[in-house]
Order: sequence, then C-alpha cells, then structure tokens
Amino acid sequence: MKEKIMFLPDLLKGKRILVTGGGTGLGKIMTRRFMELGAEPIIVGRRENVLEETANELASETAGRISWRGLDIRDAEAVEAVVDNIWLDGPVDVLLNNAAGNFLARTETLSHRAVDAIIAIVLHGTSYMTLACGKRWIAEKHAGNVLSIVTTYAWTGSGYVVPSAMAKAGVLAMTRSLAVEWGRKGIRLNAIAPGPFPTKGAWDRLVPSKQMADHLESRIPLGRVGDNQELADLAAYLVCDGSAYINGEVVTIDGGEWIAGAGQFNFAAALSDDDWAKFSPPKK
Ligand code: HXC
Repeated sequence: MKEKIMFLPDLLKGKRILVTGGGTGLGKIMTRRFMELGAEPIIVGRRENVLEETANELASETAGRISWRGLDIRDAEAVEAVVDNIWLDGPVDVLLNNAAGNFLARTETLSHRAVDAIIAIVLHGTSYMTLACGKRWIAEKHAGNVLSIVTTYAWTGSGYVVPSAMAKAGVLAMTRSLAVEWGRKGIRLNAIAPGPFPTKGAWDRLVPSKQMADHLESRIPLGRVGDNQELADLAAYLVCDGSAYINGEVVTIDGGEWIAGAGQFNFAAALSDDDWAKFSPPKK
C-alpha cells in the first residue's frame, strides 16, 4: 500500500507521548508516526539496547526529539520511579498503553506462571502505568489522555489466547470506567481494537505457519491484513486534540473481521451462483 500521511505535519507539535513497548513492533511504528507529526515521545521497555537503537533510528529518520527509559511495567515500584523521573522534564500529555505479551496455547497446558506472565504485563502493567500518570495529572490539574491497545477478542473472548483475552477485557473495562471517573478531571481514555496487523513479535508467537496466515486472511471481508500505518494514523488521531470529545470509546480496525465471524448468515458468502439459484423464489 502506498504510504500517505493524512494529517498536517504539526498535528502533534510538542506533545509528550509516553509509549510502553515503544522499542519494537506496533509501538515503534506508532512512535515514528507521532514524531513525523511533531510529537516528542518517551519510549519505555524492558530492553535498553533495543530502546536506544530505536530512539537513534527514529531521531535520525524524522529529525525529531525522542527519549527512552528502561522499564519493566510489571514492577509497580519501578513504574513509580521511572514516571517520577520522566516528570522531572514536565508532565507527559499522553500515555499510550501498547506493551503486551501473548502466546498461542491450549489452555489446559498452561502453568500458573504462564497465566501470570501475560496478565502481569497486560492487565497489571497497564493499570500501574495508567495510575502513575493519572495521579500526577489529577494532582497537577493537567489534562490527560490515555490510549490503550486492546483487541477485538477483548469483548468476544478467544480460545487459545485465554490469559490475553482476560487481561485485554480488563483493560477495556478500565478504559470505560475511568473515562467516566476521570473525565470530570480533564482526563480522557480510549482504546483501539486492532485485528490482524502483522509484526514480527506477534506473528512469530501467534501465527507460526503460512497455513494459519492464509486462513486468517481469508476470514477478513476486506481480504487482507492491516497495514501498520493505518493503525498508526488512527492512534495519531486519538491522541491529537482534534479528537478531544471522544472519551470511553474503543475503535475497531480489523477490516470487518470480528463481525464477519459473528453474523449468523455470513457463511452464505461461500455459496455459489448455482446454490443461490436454488433459493430463488419459484416463478409464477
Ligand atoms: C505455554 C508458555 C509459552 C507458550 C511461555 N510460557 N511461552 N507456556 N506456551 N508458548 C510459560 C513459560 O513456560 C513459563 O512457565 C511462563 O510462561 C513464563 O515464561 P517466561 O518466558 O519465563 O516469561 P517472561 O520472560 O516474562 O515472558 C513473557 C512472555 C514473552 C509473554 C512469555 O513471550 C514476552 O515477553 N512477550 C512480550 C512480547 C509479546 O508477547 N508480543 C506479542 C504481543 S501480541 P513455567 O511454568 O514453565 O515457568 C498481542 C496482540 C494480540 O498481544 C492480537 C493478535 C491478533
């Protein structure tokens, strides 16, 4: 797909956007788009060498400003310390909860540590980050904006990724709950529910064979997986001031995948012209 930037280049000028898991995958792609639009992101993640490399790469590509801090969001004390440190340069304007963990497995094979590994990142880590920023915004009467990446199975559930589905459902509940509780304090919260967007990290874990990839693609009404830039543009819109009245919303970007699975008669897409001819009303 030909790359088109759909916004004016100063859309996010000067905005400080804290991105969890910003060193790789979709986090990196969204961070790049924010910088192209004038934002000054701070990326956090577990691997400092990866963060440093990404920050250098994006700074030279975009001629923009970016900083990074090593942080494991599962560690609540580390979250407080790092967010304190980030705040020394002034409050952030946006928190993007992007960091996640997931793998495909039959649920009866999971150990309790496997369950904890996913829920600790996705549910606990996301809540620690949101609380750390929210408390500071409220104390300083600073406007805040939290955008969280969930999935379409946050509301449908999904077999074989059960801890992820449980945790993402929790993040969605947090988003809607705090949109009301904190909306009155000038903080809005929204979520994006992406369908399949191929990144190496997610695809190695979740779609390990070509057969699975083909099956996944064949289920999507638009006939293709998402282009990562399409997700980045949606995120840019939801973090910019032009979307200031959107609060408590989850925007699905999946080519129609989840409703295709849900609609009772959507199986009829597989019928041939001959099949349809059999259903035609009898001629009078
Ligand atoms: C069963 C598994 C497993 C697997 C790990 N475990 N992988 N069990 N099947 N495939 C078990 C381990 O055996 C261990 O249990 C426990 O989980 C913890 O594993 P560790 O490797 O020690 O944990 P940790 O280092 O914390 O790693 C966390 C992780 C890892 C989630 C397992 O993959 C990770 O850090 N991922 C981050 C990046 C990521 O996952 N990105 C994809 C997100 S995509 P025992 O009992 O043996 O000690 C996404 C989008 C979804 O979320 C939408 C897609 C359409």
